[in-house]
Amino acid sequence: MTTNTQVLLASRPQGWVKESDFKIVETAIQQPRGGEFLIRNKWLSLDPYMRGRMSDAKSYSAPVQIGDVMTGGAVGEVIESQHPRFKKGDHVVGILGWQEYAISTGEGLSKVDPNLVPLSCYLGVVGMPGATAWIGLLEHCQPKAGETVVVSAASGAVGSVVGQLAKMQGCRTVGIAGGKAKCDYVVKELGFDACVDYKGGNLLTDLKAACADGVDCYFENVGGEVMDAVFRCFNPFARVALCGLIADYNLDEPHGVRMIRSLLVNRVNLRGFIVLDRPDLYAKALSQLGRWVAQGKIKYHETVAEGLRNAPSAFIGMLKGQNLGKQLVKLA
Ligand SMILES: NC(=O)c1ccc[n+]([C@@H]2O[C@H](COP(=O)([O-])OP(=O)(O)OC[C@H]3O[C@@H](n4cnc5c(N)ncnc54)[C@H](OP(=O)(O)O)[C@@H]3O)[C@@H](O)[C@H]2O)c1
Repeated sequence: MTTNTQVLLASRPQGWVKESDFKIVETAIQQPRGGEFLIRNKWLSLDPYMRGRMSDAKSYSAPVQIGDVMTGGAVGEVIESQHPRFKKGDHVVGILGWQEYAISTGEGLSKVDPNLVPLSCYLGVVGMPGATAWIGLLEHCQPKAGETVVVSAASGAVGSVVGQLAKMQGCRTVGIAGGKAKCDYVVKELGFDACVDYKGGNLLTDLKAACADGVDCYFENVGGEVMDAVFRCFNPFARVALCGLIADYNLDEPHGVRMIRSLLVNRVNLRGFIVLDRPDLYAKALSQLGRWVAQGKIKYHETVAEGLRNAPSAFIGMLKGQNLGKQLVKLA
């Protein structure tokens, strides 16, 4: 092995991402120097936030520069090391980029145990999306038994964990997802009480029927018309964890918030949050989730693209809702 396949950002997308916004190159694999190690990436995570990194609009994190390797979480195996703490054969997770091999000093990387759960889980249910679900629901929404919790993008990486955690809290748990197959999965496999198909043509009516006692907690992953509908169903003193707005990510003009009066009259507590702001809770969240996944108490599904060259199309597919559960790319 001498070459490293990498995916670079070729241009900043205007509207929807196109495959031509990426460029695939072959470069020489670097050799680790003192204090460094070489990782063979095995799984690459594709996440909605990457759409934001492709843009140079102001955000909570710096954009990827044109010509740079696309940013992204990956899990891999150390294959050569000149580092005292990371040994050949160790498995690590962190921001290793859209590439087959990565050099690291260890900064920002964590070792993971391939014997506890499959390696790919460290990018999903026992990784950043799982921690996002845990922190957003348990820390920001603080649902109580008997309350109704609604989560959008319910079949996805974050939403699927939110709903299962809400069930564990004793809540009535209602998902919102696109299409019957996803809704069936959410109810029959994940154990939600109900799931509303927002593409079914009767979003508000169906949502009100599924939430007969109103909405106490809303875990917001999408925004747009889904958000408008949920905002019409709040109970007094409802809590909203504002996690993501994927319906807006490819729009030039955002949909905006249309039902803001509902926040006022219901005295709603809406909290925007970024998982990276809570390193204090991250380890606790992942240790609980790892245990629950290993015990079969939390279920997950993965949609897997084969090979790095298929990462751009898989990424675009995920933004369009073609994934069920966590979208991954298998690299080795
Ligand atoms: N705040 C944080 O720290 C943080 C961390 C991780 C993720 N997030 C956010 O959380 C959200 C979910 O992320 P994820 O990784 O779990 O992704 P995901 O749900 O696995 O995949 C994205 C899903 O979004 C749904 N979607 C796309 N366009 C939509 C639209 N116009 N209206 C409604 N739904 C739409 C699609 O499902 P359907 O087929 O059901 O439409 C798609 O499968 C994203 O907004 C992401 O940016 C935030």
